[in-house]
Amino acid sequence: MYTILERRKLADQIYLMVVHAPRVAKACKPGQFVIVKMDEEGERIPLTICDYDRSAGTVTIVFQVVGASTERMAGLYGEDTFMDFVGPLGCPSELVEEDLDTLKKKKILFVAGGVGTAPVYPQVKWMHQQGIDVDVVIGAKNHEMLILEDEMRQVAGRLYVCTDDGSYGTPGMVTTVIEELADKGTKYDVCVAIGPMIMMKFVCLLTKELEIPTIVSMNPIMVDGTGMCGACRLQVGDEVKFACVDGPEFDGHLVDFDQAMKRQQMYKTEEGRAVLRVRE
Ligand code: FES
Repeated sequence: MYTILERRKLADQIYLMVVHAPRVAKACKPGQFVIVKMDEEGERIPLTICDYDRSAGTVTIVFQVVGASTERMAGLYGEDTFMDFVGPLGCPSELVEEDLDTLKKKKILFVAGGVGTAPVYPQVKWMHQQGIDVDVVIGAKNHEMLILEDEMRQVAGRLYVCTDDGSYGTPGMVTTVIEELADKGTKYDVCVAIGPMIMMKFVCLLTKELEIPTIVSMNPIMVDGTGMCGACRLQVGDEVKFACVDGPEFDGHLVDFDQAMKRQQMYKTEEGRAVLRVRE
C-alpha cells in the first residue's frame, strides 16, 4: 500500500498529492510517469511525476479530474492509500540524459500549458540543480487555473506567465509569448513543450517556423503502460510509436497531433458518462 502524505487542491479540478513510494522515488528521473490504481476494481491511471524526494521516499503527482477514476481519486485524503503505484515508467527526458557539457551550452526554452506545468517542473528543477538557467513560459486559461507558479519561479532562470483571458501576466496563449521572445531576438537551441495536445500542436507549428527543434511529451490514453495493448499508439513521422515505452517524449515536429487528438476524442463521451455516474 502507498500512503498519501499530503493532498492539496491547486486549482479547480487540479490536485497535488505527495505519496510515500520509496522505490519509485529512488529510481525515477524527470520525464517519467507512474500508473496508479486505487483498489482491486480501480482503473489504471497514468500520471506524470511532478517531483520526488529520494531521502523522504516520496513522489509528487499532479492530476486533473478528467474522468470517473480521477474524480474518485480527488476524493482521497492524507492517510488514504493507493493499492498500486507502479513506476518509474517511460523514458526519462531526452535533455536530462544528454551529456552535461553539451547541455550547458544550449539555450533552452520550456513551455507549459495548464496541468502540463507539473511534468515541466521536475525538468526545470533538475536543470537548476545542474546550474543551467532556462527560460520558462507557463500559461493557463485564467489566473485561477495557473498552477505551480511560485515553485517554478524558484527554479527557472526567467519565468514568463500568460493567461488566455488576460487576467494575469501577458494576455494570450503561450505562443504569444514565444513570438514576443523571438521578436526580441532571443534564439533557442531547443524547446520543450508540455500541455494539452492542441497547445503542443500550435507551439510546434510556430517553433517549426522559427526553426527551433521541439520536444513534446505525449499524454494519450494508456491501459497497460508496458507496450502490450496498443492504446497509446501515435504516428511519429513514418513510424508508429507507443507513448508508454517509446516516449512519452517525441520530436514535436514529427508527431501527427490531428490523429492523436481524434483518438483521444473517441473516449471523451464515455468518460463524461462515467463521471456523472460517480457523482450520482
Ligand atoms: Fe498499452 Fe502503451 S499503454 S501500449
